[in-house]
Amino acid sequence: MEDAQTNGMARENGQDIVLSESRTRFNEHKGIVLPSHALPEVIEDLQSFKFRPDDILVVTSPKSGTHWVFETVALIMADGVWENVKRDTLKNHLEFVILNKDAFDESKPMTMFYKQLDKMPSPRIMFTHLPLELLPPGVFEANAKIIYSARNPKDVLASLYRFIGKTPEALFVTWEILYSTIFTDQFFYGAWDRHVLSYWKLRNDKNVLFLKYEDMKKNPTKIVAQIAEFINHPISDDVRDVIVEKTSLDKIKKEMKRLEETLEDGYMFSKAYGTLNYFQKGVIGDWKNYFTVAQNEQFDKELEERLGESGLEFDYE
Ligand code: A3P
Repeated sequence: MEDAQTNGMARENGQDIVLSESRTRFNEHKGIVLPSHALPEVIEDLQSFKFRPDDILVVTSPKSGTHWVFETVALIMADGVWENVKRDTLKNHLEFVILNKDAFDESKPMTMFYKQLDKMPSPRIMFTHLPLELLPPGVFEANAKIIYSARNPKDVLASLYRFIGKTPEALFVTWEILYSTIFTDQFFYGAWDRHVLSYWKLRNDKNVLFLKYEDMKKNPTKIVAQIAEFINHPISDDVRDVIVEKTSLDKIKKEMKRLEETLEDGYMFSKAYGTLNYFQKGVIGDWKNYFTVAQNEQFDKELEERLGESGLEFDYE
């Protein structure tokens, strides 16, 4: 098994996943651009991933507070005690794979997080950036819970641009490329507007909670209580306040540093990507440092057309 994985092939459930050798920095699946760590073969295999009724799946278009919401859910389930959060993997990210070539360590097997998640005891919390059309249908069949987090697209762009600037992908992705592709399938995980709007349409489903990053930032107490109620995990007001405090940016960063240093996956992850760079500025309105006046005007016009009568609106400061 380890040999097969090291050679770029994983055998599980009688099926082979053969990884293409001619991989570029980005992948593409059904016309949708994916980052290098999200492989089409894995997304196909995930279509038969078995969900359970007590699963919680955090879904986002990238840079919309995924890790923040994930850690908040985890801490609610652990009644506000970090040490009680069950961590079987560094990242419960469904489609995320660490290729050993990225970790520059051919001696280790490839890390496919979903294989570990498959074996993880219930209740599981997982996350994904998959757009609705690529989401494994088992989520709905099992009546698992979906928490979707959306963020204003201007800050999404600013956050992604800064994030990519710290990775080798920076060589391929400029601000202009990101700005001009956000509403197309050349954007990571597909057009931002289709991603968000398709889940927005599900917001009244009893198994879907639609959150906005800006609301969480402005009133975390309310959102933590809302999440606890949605996942049927009652917490006292005191525990709620502890969770708000512990998931503030500075506190959460410290906890992530500890994980990176102590979990086994942390070794591979930090070799491949340096560090868990998911907790950075954490503000609303940083986009003003990146958009020109003309870009902003054009963006506002386009956004208005795309969100149209959907009723979906965002705060930008
Ligand atoms: P910035 O890059 O604007 O700082 P994701 O987890 O989807 O990749 O999203 C990352 C973004 O969420 C980053 O935005 C990160 O700083 C922000 N974030 C993470 N934890 C946060 C917190 N506790 N409070 C505010 N923002 C947070």
